[in-house]
Order: sequence, then C-alpha cells, then structure tokens
Amino acid sequence: MNDVKQFENRNSRMIKKMSNDKSLNNLSKKLISDSSKYEYSYHFKWLGLPIIQLPQDVLVMQELIWKIKPDVIIETGIARGGSLIFYASMLKLLGTTGFVIGVDIDIRSHNKKTLERHPFYNRIKLIQGSSIDTKTIQNVKKLIKNKKKILVVLDSNHSHDHVLQELNLYAPFVKKGSYVVVFDSIVQDMPSSFVKKRPWGIDNNPKTAIWEFLKTNQRFKIDKDIENKLLITYAPDGYLKCIK
Ligand SMILES: C[S@@+](CC[C@H](N)C(=O)[O-])C[C@H]1O[C@@H](n2cnc3c(N)ncnc32)[C@H](O)[C@@H]1O
Repeated sequence: MNDVKQFENRNSRMIKKMSNDKSLNNLSKKLISDSSKYEYSYHFKWLGLPIIQLPQDVLVMQELIWKIKPDVIIETGIARGGSLIFYASMLKLLGTTGFVIGVDIDIRSHNKKTLERHPFYNRIKLIQGSSIDTKTIQNVKKLIKNKKKILVVLDSNHSHDHVLQELNLYAPFVKKGSYVVVFDSIVQDMPSSFVKKRPWGIDNNPKTAIWEFLKTNQRFKIDKDIENKLLITYAPDGYLKCIK
C-alpha cells in the first residue's frame, strides 16, 4: 500500500475512534457552549470581512469547494459578508468562472458598500429579500440557469419552519456529488441559554428541519464523516450530501 493510501486509512481509523470517544465529544459541546458566552464565532474575518462561523467549518467548506468545484455557491444569510468573500476567493483560486449568490433579508448599506469595494466583489451577486420569497427564488433561478454544479449554504433564519422551507426550495438546485450545508443545527445540542432572544431553540431549529426534510427526501444523506473529523462544528447533521 502506498504512503498516501496508508495516511488516508490511518486518518479514517482515528476519526472513527474519535467519534466514539464520548468524553471528548462532550468536551467539544462544552467548548462550543461556554465559548458562545463570549460570542466566539463573531471574532474572525476572511480577507478583511467578518465571517460568523467556527474556523473548523470554514476549513471544511474549503475542502468541499475544492472537491465539488461548483459553478455557483448560493448562501442564504450573509450578515457582514465575510462568508461571501470566502466563497468568492475560493472560486477565484479554482481558476474557474464560478460565482456566489448571497441572499439576505436585510443587507445593511454599510455592509453592502464594504462588499462592493472588495476586490472579490466581481464574483458576487446579491439578492435582498427573504430566502423563501417567490421573487427571491425566481431571481436565483435566473442567475443559475444553465449552471450545473451548485453548492448551497443555508445560514439565515434558523427556525424549523424557515429552514425546512429553504431545504425544499434550494435542495432541488443541487445535483449528485454536491452538498446542501445547513448551519446552526448545533442549537439542538446546546443548553437553552445558547440562543438568546431568537424565535428558534431546542426542538425548533435547523437540525429538526433537517431530520424532517430527510424523512421524505432520499436524494440527500448526512455526511457523518465530515462532522466526525471536525469534532467542533456548528453544523452537526448539517453537511448533506446529494447522493442521487
Ligand atoms: C447567522 S447570520 C449569517 C452569517 C453569515 N453566513 C456568515 O457566515 O458570516 C444570519 C443572517 O440571516 C439573515 N436573515 C434572517 N432572516 C432571513 C430570511 N428570511 N431570508 C434571508 N436572510 C435572512 C439576517 O439578516 C442575517 O444577516
């Protein structure tokens, strides 16, 4: 067996073992929960703009983008734009003509201006509106016409009903081999104090929406290998691989 294969096999064995280590996995949840008191996920930037993610998830998104080489990445919920710049810069690195669609109900004018001045803005198309509005979906459809490989990231309103609607509306754009990534499913695994002054919480969040969606949709499967290796993620059960 060559060295590369041996390395991969060893990694797989270790990741599997790690996923069965209950005390380590509890420690991970405690880390996510306790650090959220200090708004840990707000503290990072990508090429100058805030990206509200755990660094671990960002690294794995890079792996997915390299693997899928998407023509278009659609993100619902863009906040301060760092994630859009991250996706745009990855697509530029791929050397393709890929672009990013960012959908947000509230694109604040200062965030929009900063985005527009950014060197990677030429790969970004913004849509202001709710991600589940008919008009928004029509605009998205126009932009992705004739595009084959679409990667979808859902990170907007995290309530069960909203995410379930997003899954039903955006998952059809994704074809075999690509993914829908649903962020903030971690809410289900956190103490109720994790979410403050939001309409979502335990039993009403992206994870419960994913579970509901998968009851009737056989095209997608939770990619457990990703979260097992991540150990620390905001998207447990949220890396959905399109398998047919
Ligand atoms: C968690 S933040 C997104 C973080 C961003 N993806 C990042 O990685 O930096 C959630 C965003 O979702 C937006 N949002 C809330 N409800 C929405 C809806 N119905 N449709 C689209 N965007 C929405 C909010 O305005 C906010 O900017």
